[in-house]
Amino acid sequence: FKVPEPVNEPVLSYGAGSRERELLRGALESALSAEIDIPMYIGGEEVRTGRKFAVRPPHRHGDVLGYYHYGDKSHVEAAIAAALSAKAAWEDLAWEQRAAIFLRAADLIAGPYRYKLNAATMLGQSKNAYQAEIDSACEIVDFLRFNVKYMAEIYSQQPPVSPRGNWNRVEQRPLEGFVFALTPFNFTAIAGNLPTSAAMMGNVVVWKPANTQVYSAHVLMEVFREAGVPAGVINLVFVDGPEAGDVIFKHPDFAGIHFTGSTAVFQNIWKTIGENIHRYRSYPRIVGETGGKDFILVHASADVKAASTAIVRGAFEYQGQKCSAASRVYIPSSLWPALKAQIIKDVSSFKVGPVEDFGNFINAVIDEKSFDKLAKYIDAAQSDPDAEIIVGGTYDKSEGYYIQPTVIVAQRPDYVTMCEELFGPVLTVYVYEDEKWKETLDVIDSTSIYALTGAVIARDRYAIGEATQALRHAAGNFYINDKCTGAVVGQQPFGGARGSGTNDKAGSMINLLRWVSPRTIKETF
Ligand code: NAD
Ligand code: ALA
Repeated sequence: FKVPEPVNEPVLSYGAGSRERELLRGALESALSAEIDIPMYIGGEEVRTGRKFAVRPPHRHGDVLGYYHYGDKSHVEAAIAAALSAKAAWEDLAWEQRAAIFLRAADLIAGPYRYKLNAATMLGQSKNAYQAEIDSACEIVDFLRFNVKYMAEIYSQQPPVSPRGNWNRVEQRPLEGFVFALTPFNFTAIAGNLPTSAAMMGNVVVWKPANTQVYSAHVLMEVFREAGVPAGVINLVFVDGPEAGDVIFKHPDFAGIHFTGSTAVFQNIWKTIGENIHRYRSYPRIVGETGGKDFILVHASADVKAASTAIVRGAFEYQGQKCSAASRVYIPSSLWPALKAQIIKDVSSFKVGPVEDFGNFINAVIDEKSFDKLAKYIDAAQSDPDAEIIVGGTYDKSEGYYIQPTVIVAQRPDYVTMCEELFGPVLTVYVYEDEKWKETLDVIDSTSIYALTGAVIARDRYAIGEATQALRHAAGNFYINDKCTGAVVGQQPFGGARGSGTNDKAGSMINLLRWVSPRTIKETF
């Protein structure tokens, strides 16, 4: 069989007066007018515990969009049991049948569910219409369609030699047991990709999303069910993370974790898995994409306007809450006066406010914990002689968790906000002497524990070559003359190394290969 050749899902513009904008407005209004009730899904059943928590838009936290039902250890146990009982039939299904289900899910999201899923992402995670569109419409559809293509390629790869009298072949078996998908708040597409990429390869999954992403997770689950994912293959639970982990990581049938989230949580999980290794039937697959301290390096040959656009878009789209967001920038002193003026101008032009006003570029950060953490870093910078805030620096949580886009200039390249992941609209700049270009390359490579994304902005071809070579371990995704965000499935496989993850490239064959365990068969005639 040949699967349909995927193309990237086109990004809709939602321009004023467009039909798309009206449809999205309609979806937002219906989401706001009805109180949504979000169950867990275990073994194909909707599970309502009555222990309910409110879903609130981060940009208007006084409002309640609805409630989700919270579970406990018993629901995790039930989800594992449901997954294991669905396993035999699911893995026996021909891969083409599984492919058809996920291609149908992609079509449902690209078509009838597009506005509903975008509205859930906008309201639940405070993403503006464009950021929601590239995430919960385009990226998840691309993950599903391209992964089906990679899956077909994996199943077609066979040993090149079978001497006469023999037939050598490789069978790609699903893992023995169940896979745990533990997902972050910041991308609906990532939350949807982690359970589906494992399930596509014949695995059964227990999926726990972040508490701040339950709304769009719920809509995704509706899609998966309508697309025909059988009962028990993907089970969605809303449970406290450590409580879920306590059941999952002690279970003999735990076969792997597909994680995206913070480095600290992943490192703890890895330790827990290590402590329990004797319990498992097989060595579990550990796949994790984690934190970042992503950089943009500007060379003296760069175009000032282009550099500023890359910096401000890379740093402030979705309030800096992309794992790929630029959060440390290195600028040569010869360009600094012009670039400083341009950055201040660009940042000052951003409108800040709720997602329902389509003119707002910056919306709220995800929750109070994140808001308070960012406010602390800003306050510290206000009173630190090693830091100067040149734009922004204010915040207000009276209605929504709003942090004004903020640029700090650090006197030292190891100033705290040059090193730690803040995960918000706070960018730190370090100005280097032009002649210290080579030392700056070393500084970038050694300043942080992370290695997720990075970019160089330059017109000088030798400088581009030097940066690309010297920083080859500093980023898993490296961009030349572009911002460091916005990887597109099928174009730039995404992931980082060092403290940023196992670099199993989301949306690639490398990733799907982690969810199979090959068996080699030699038959002699
Ligand atoms: P997080 O680590 O707080 O949470 C991720 C998931 O783990 C959530 O479902 C959460 O409920 C769960 N969790 C938290 N503590 C746990 C524990 N002790 N035991 C078990 N589960 C636990 O991350 P987040 O705030 O949702 O997402 C932001 C982070 O994710 C940032 O660090 C960002 O860089 C990272 N991220 C990385 C990538 C990437 O591709 N590298 C992509 C997106 C996000
Ligand atoms: N695709 C997302 C980005 O690169 C993760 O920003």
